[in-house]
Amino acid sequence: MPSLLTNPLRVGLRQERVITPQCIVIFGASGDLTHRKLVPALFELYRQRRLPSEFAVLGCARRPWSDEEFRQKMAEALADEIREHPSAWDSFSQGLFYEPVDLQQSDHLVRLAGRLEAIDRLRATRGNRTFYLSVSPEFYGSGCRALAGAGLLADPERSRVVIEKPFGRDYGSAQALNKVVQACAKESQVFRIDHYLGKETVQNILVMRFANTIFEPIWNRNYIANVQITAAETVGVEERAGYYETSGALRDMVQNHLTQILALTAMEPPGRFDAEAIRNEKAKVLQAARLAREDEPWKCCVRGQYSRGGSAASPLPGYRDEPGVNPNSTTETYVAMKLFINNWRWQGVPFYLRTGKRLPKRLSEVVLTFREAPVHLFDAAGGAPTPNQLILRIQPDEGAEIRFEVKAPGSGMRSRPVDMAFSYDDSFGEPSDEGYVRLLADAMLGDPTLYTRSDEVEAAWRLYTPLLELIEEAPWQLPVHPYEARTWGPAAADNLMAEDGLVWRRP
Ligand code: BG6
Repeated sequence: MPSLLTNPLRVGLRQERVITPQCIVIFGASGDLTHRKLVPALFELYRQRRLPSEFAVLGCARRPWSDEEFRQKMAEALADEIREHPSAWDSFSQGLFYEPVDLQQSDHLVRLAGRLEAIDRLRATRGNRTFYLSVSPEFYGSGCRALAGAGLLADPERSRVVIEKPFGRDYGSAQALNKVVQACAKESQVFRIDHYLGKETVQNILVMRFANTIFEPIWNRNYIANVQITAAETVGVEERAGYYETSGALRDMVQNHLTQILALTAMEPPGRFDAEAIRNEKAKVLQAARLAREDEPWKCCVRGQYSRGGSAASPLPGYRDEPGVNPNSTTETYVAMKLFINNWRWQGVPFYLRTGKRLPKRLSEVVLTFREAPVHLFDAAGGAPTPNQLILRIQPDEGAEIRFEVKAPGSGMRSRPVDMAFSYDDSFGEPSDEGYVRLLADAMLGDPTLYTRSDEVEAAWRLYTPLLELIEEAPWQLPVHPYEARTWGPAAADNLMAEDGLVWRRP
C-alpha cells in the first residue's frame, strides 16, 4: 500500500474534494485584488465545476455600488475570459452581489448579517461563509472584531476568515494581531494567505522531497554546501507606491514568500500529510533559523533600490521617480541576505535569499548546491568541476533540473557540466491553476495546509527582527545601494557571496 507521503493527493492536497454550498464575502471588493485575482479565481473554479451551483460572492466596500454595478465592474475586468466563456459568465454572474459596508460601523454589520441571510435563502448557501479581508492591513484586527461582534464567526464549522498579507509589520505587531484574531475566531477558522503557497511548484518542493527516495538521504549538511533562494521581478513598484513605501522588499517579499519557500525547503519530513503536521515542521524550522550575523546584521544583509536604467529606446524610471514615491525615499526594492538554520540537518549550511524589483528577468527558484567531489580525477572544461546543483524552478518555466558533470566528447577525459531537466509544461501540457484558485478552494474546503499558522508568522517576523530594528534605529548601517534598473542588483550583494567564495546564479 502506498504511504501517505507517496500519495499526497489522497490525503491532504486532494483536488477532487467537494466545496459545500458557500457564500464568499469579499471586504475591499472595490480594490485591485478582487477584480485581478479573486473573482477570476472564483470564475475559474466555477468553470471547472468545483464551485457548487449553490454559491454566492458578496462584494463589500464603502462605495455605494449596486449588484448590477459590481457585476459590470467585474465583467469589464474579466472581458477576455468572458469572450471565451460567455454562457458560463452569464450563470456565474447571477451569483455576484454587492453590499456597501464599512466594517467600522456597527449598523452596517447588522445590515450585512441580514443580507447574508437573504442570500442564503436565495442561493441555498446554508450559512456557510468565507470572509475574505482584502482591506488595508490596519483593519485586519478591527475587521475580525466587527465580524465576531456581529456573530458572524460564531460557528467554527461554517465560518472562516481569510486574511491577506502583510500579517503585522514586525514581530510585536504580528503577535498583537494574532491575539486579536484568536479572540474572535478559533485558529482553525483563520486562513492567513501567502499566495506563493498556492503555486504548484512551491507545493512541489514537498513532493520532490518526500515522495522520492533519491533526494532525502542527501538533503542535509553532509551533502549540501549552500542554498540560494531567489525571487526576481522585472516590474517596478507599479501603482503601489502608497503601500510599498511603508513596506519595502523585506516586508513585501522576504518575510512571507521567500521565508515560506525556505521553510518548505528546509523543514523535516512531517509525520503525516495534514495541515497540523506540516505546519508544525515549518514552524520548527523557522524557529531554528537565524540571520548569519545576528549581532552585526549589516554584515549579512544588503539592501538596494533601483535607479534609472533600461535602454535609450525604452528608458526606465528610478524608484524615486515613480509616482507617489518620496524623491528621497530609502525604501529598499532589493534585499539579499545570508541565514543559517541551527539544527542537526542544516548546521553550518548558508541559505542565501534575494529578491528585487526591476531585475533583468522574472524568475523564482531554489538552487541547492552540493559539496564538491572530494578528489578531482578529471580535468574540467572550465578549470574546476562545477558542483552539482538541483534547481527547483518556481516560475516561469516551472520545473526542476539537475546539473552534473559528464565526459566531454573526445579522446581525453575532460568533464563538462550538463543539465537534466523536467518541465511542467512538457510533462503535463496544461497550465497550472493560478495560486489563488487553489488557495480559495482550500479556504472554502476548510483545509489550512497551504495557509500560515500563527506561530509560523510570528517565527518569520522574529527571524528578521534584528534587521527591522536596525533599519528603524540606525538606517545608515544598512544603506540602500542604488542599482541600475534591469541589472541584477547592487555590487554589495555580489560581495556578500564573494566573501564566501560564491556567486549568485545568473540564469
Ligand atoms: C506580492 C507582492 O505579494 O507578490 C508584490 O506584494 C510582488 O510586490 C508579488 O510583485 C509577486 O508575486 P508573483 O506571484 O508575481 O511572483
